[in-house]
Amino acid sequence: MDDAELQILRQRAPGLAALYTTARDTILRAADVAALEQARVSTLGRKSALTELLRSIPTLPAVDRPLLGKGGNAVRRELEALVEEREAELRREALSASLAHERLDVTLPGQPFPAGHEHLISQTMREVEDIFIGLGYRIAEGPEVELDYYNFTALNTPPSHPARSAHDTFWVVEPRETMPEAVMDADRGVLLRTHTSPVQVRVMEQQRPPVYVVCLGKVYRRDSDATHTPMFHQVEGLVVDEGITLADLKGTLHHFTQEFFGGERAIRIRPHFFPFTEPSIEVDVSCELCGGKGCRSCKHSGWLEIMGAGMVDPAVYDFVDYDPEKVSGFAFGMGVERMAMLKHGIPDLRLFYDNDVRFLRQF
Ligand code: DAH
Repeated sequence: MDDAELQILRQRAPGLAALYTTARDTILRAADVAALEQARVSTLGRKSALTELLRSIPTLPAVDRPLLGKGGNAVRRELEALVEEREAELRREALSASLAHERLDVTLPGQPFPAGHEHLISQTMREVEDIFIGLGYRIAEGPEVELDYYNFTALNTPPSHPARSAHDTFWVVEPRETMPEAVMDADRGVLLRTHTSPVQVRVMEQQRPPVYVVCLGKVYRRDSDATHTPMFHQVEGLVVDEGITLADLKGTLHHFTQEFFGGERAIRIRPHFFPFTEPSIEVDVSCELCGGKGCRSCKHSGWLEIMGAGMVDPAVYDFVDYDPEKVSGFAFGMGVERMAMLKHGIPDLRLFYDNDVRFLRQF
């Protein structure tokens, strides 16, 4: 309603005009959406003066009815439009206020979140894996909860074999408890694998030669002191093919140590005993600290022991139906923690598992 129209209304229906201007002020003064809703109810609602006026029209003298009827409805439409406009305006204001207030600069640098990385043991295992994958080996896996059969018996270590006592075994189902009557049944026990060698047997059961695999994983022994933890990691290697000899084993391990330690490192092999290899050897790498002259870290020998190995004993082939007349092979096993300690000069095994980030972050 513009000024001129309001002027006319004032002259012809001053009461309605006054009602209009009061209602309009109430609506325009509403400072937020809730206040506006209150203003709408009080000016246009069922109990408002306007509604009452419109409702009373039939009771008015006939001459007044057309003017107040038309005028009253015009005022109502006008006020309704005003409420709508005001509401839109209030919503726009609220939006721009929140935009101004909650503004976010997405180009600001974020809160630095320290990124972790693989544990040195995992990194070392990846490095070893990479070297053997480079030689065409496949990665094999086996269970950590293992059968006595795979951990010992099929590795030519039957229940009565003295070599079993060298492994301080965590039994899950101890054979003697379940089957006291038969020592011969003892290989049906269940244990936490004490080495990764059982994977050799599992791989040979699954496939025919040629076999070129490495298996990396956790092993468990009931040991805990400065140089032993109840859980540690090993790498197992197994090759079975036609015409494999100890020279292949030595060449492979020489290549591996050069790659792993970097630079020229000499290796030497010494005779040893393992039930599942014949002959068996232990492998040493030359001490880098003293260049082989002898120092404290190599116990003045110039050499550091890194693994056990040997030619697969034909007795093992019997368990997996390989023909020792046709194929031969070698196997080796090493401790991942020990390899990492030697490579990085880490003095104490326990550092790996204290999980002090100041230590871990260095690698
Ligand atoms: N399994 C042996 C251990 O834990 C290490 C080992 C020695 C593995 C000779 C081999 C091997 O594959 O040929 O003490």
